[in-house]
Amino acid sequence: MSAEPTAEAPELDDRSRYAGVLRFYDLAKHAEWQVKDVPWGELPPVPEGKGSPQRQARRRDIWRSVVMQQLQADVIACEMSAQLLNAAPDPEARLYYTTMVQDESRHTEAWMKLIGQVGGEGERDPHLDRLGRMFLEADSLEEKVFLMQVFFERLIIPRFRLIARSSRGTVLEDICNRLAVDDGIHHGSGMAYERILLEHAPPTVKARLIDAANRMLPEFAKHALWRPKAREFIGSLMESRDRERLVQELEHGRRLAASLGLDVSEVRLPTL
Ligand SMILES: [Fe+2]
Ligand SMILES: [Fe+2]
Repeated sequence: MSAEPTAEAPELDDRSRYAGVLRFYDLAKHAEWQVKDVPWGELPPVPEGKGSPQRQARRRDIWRSVVMQQLQADVIACEMSAQLLNAAPDPEARLYYTTMVQDESRHTEAWMKLIGQVGGEGERDPHLDRLGRMFLEADSLEEKVFLMQVFFERLIIPRFRLIARSSRGTVLEDICNRLAVDDGIHHGSGMAYERILLEHAPPTVKARLIDAANRMLPEFAKHALWRPKAREFIGSLMESRDRERLVQELEHGRRLAASLGLDVSEVRLPTL
């Protein structure tokens, strides 16, 4: 036997590049939970209001609109993750995406159950629908992974932490904590896969990612600042804090793109 590399060696080498993606498959299996694990009935669904019945009803409407936005986002995420599963050619990534499809579907189930306990579905956030369309209509896999996993999944995590902090001792807090973990995995796996996808990508593909970021970030900003009718009156109170937070999040988004080796000098952060 000669010590020459065999014909299969480069192929084996190639698959070892996917170890990082496979690690997220294991992590996802480990972190998997069931909707029945949520303390339904043991905790109030959302924070309970005090004061007059009108005041209480208004508070409940606010929480209902918070839950509605998350439900809407996760229904869209079901379609996105199914697209990723279908579009990814690599078996390791496909295996990982089977877990993401299940996660997004489980998130949707939990939100549907919760919204049923706080008065049912409400007003849709039009910016979230637009973000969803941008992703679903993106041409390349590189762009889809970039928009959903690199940006959106990461930018949404501080929002879960924020909602959890404002809803201690409720089912809503419990769900937000679970989803922050899951979306951390969705983001991490996307970073790992996008790195591999971009290794041999021509400059035109990279330039299109920057275009996609420039289309997405303004819409994300509008989504983050959007308030349904139920939250309009608190909207103005929180707006300056929201804007500050958003500026940091958008800057973080740009750093993520830079860490993938993209030339971010052409990224335009929306002016707020
Ligand atoms: Fe989700
Ligand atoms: Fe997710």
